[in-house]
Amino acid sequence: MSIRPQKPAPATPAPGKLPITELPEMKARRQPIVMVTAYDAPGGRLADEAGADLVLVGDSAAMTVLGHDSTVPATMDEMVILTRAVTRGASRPLVIADMPFGSFQVSDEEALRNAIRFVKEAGADAVKLEGAGTMLSRVRAIVDAGIPVMGHLGLTPQSATMLGGYKAQGRSAEKALRLYDDARALEAAGCFSLVLEAVPAPVAARITRDLVIPTIGIGAGADCDGQVLVWHDLLGLYHGRAARFVKRYAEIGDTIRAALAEYAEDVREHRFPQEQHTYAMPDDELAIFEAAASDRHEHAEDRA
Ligand code: KIV
Repeated sequence: MSIRPQKPAPATPAPGKLPITELPEMKARRQPIVMVTAYDAPGGRLADEAGADLVLVGDSAAMTVLGHDSTVPATMDEMVILTRAVTRGASRPLVIADMPFGSFQVSDEEALRNAIRFVKEAGADAVKLEGAGTMLSRVRAIVDAGIPVMGHLGLTPQSATMLGGYKAQGRSAEKALRLYDDARALEAAGCFSLVLEAVPAPVAARITRDLVIPTIGIGAGADCDGQVLVWHDLLGLYHGRAARFVKRYAEIGDTIRAALAEYAEDVREHRFPQEQHTYAMPDDELAIFEAAASDRHEHAEDRA
């Protein structure tokens, strides 16, 4: 009997899983780290097959798959279900569960309890949380329990109201320096990597240069150690206005819409289903069935 676990768990990664210790080595080798979001099992599998290193189950799910106007309404229960689906699909990439708004702000204990849910119930390899300052003790509490934490600075959508909207951060020397200090503090607290969102490229480059842990950029320039894009943005599935930093690699939404329209037309015009889409049965069985059904139908009409 093998004692090697088959599913991801903290400190006991599943066979074939990218070791988290490989990430700083990739940074040292200047080998870009590829991260993408995913929200279901097919998404996790496709990201894995495409060679992604990290798959983030982002709380962007609130907008991309649950139809909300912001990331704030995402709940722990929703994020656990989505993360569980992604970990069923993705084997090699590290799967990182995004801690939703309200799941880590109240106390270190609650943050740890929720991080543990992601690992135990959803098979996540790590969690991500937004911010620094009072969040540093959350990071320490979760890391001390053996769960890797990814930080997130710059445009942190959960606090977009406080930031004055969805706009680039760190554009003055003072604000850039605050970002720099926060990044160093998150590294010191034990984060294994750091997302930098909507930050001027030279600021992200300087932070990247001075940290040992890898930075993952989204709208933070080419000098970050890795890049992340949201699944629906990358594939052309999201109908809202795309941010400046989004590059669309496909227009899957158009493909899906055209396929659905063709299907609807086929159904209305009696072109689908055809013979090859149906199941047959032996003639003698069909004859018996038809006779018995007619019999029942006649009796039903007699009773009416
Ligand atoms: O929720 C998310 O998808 C994210 C990425 C944009 C980094 O936080």
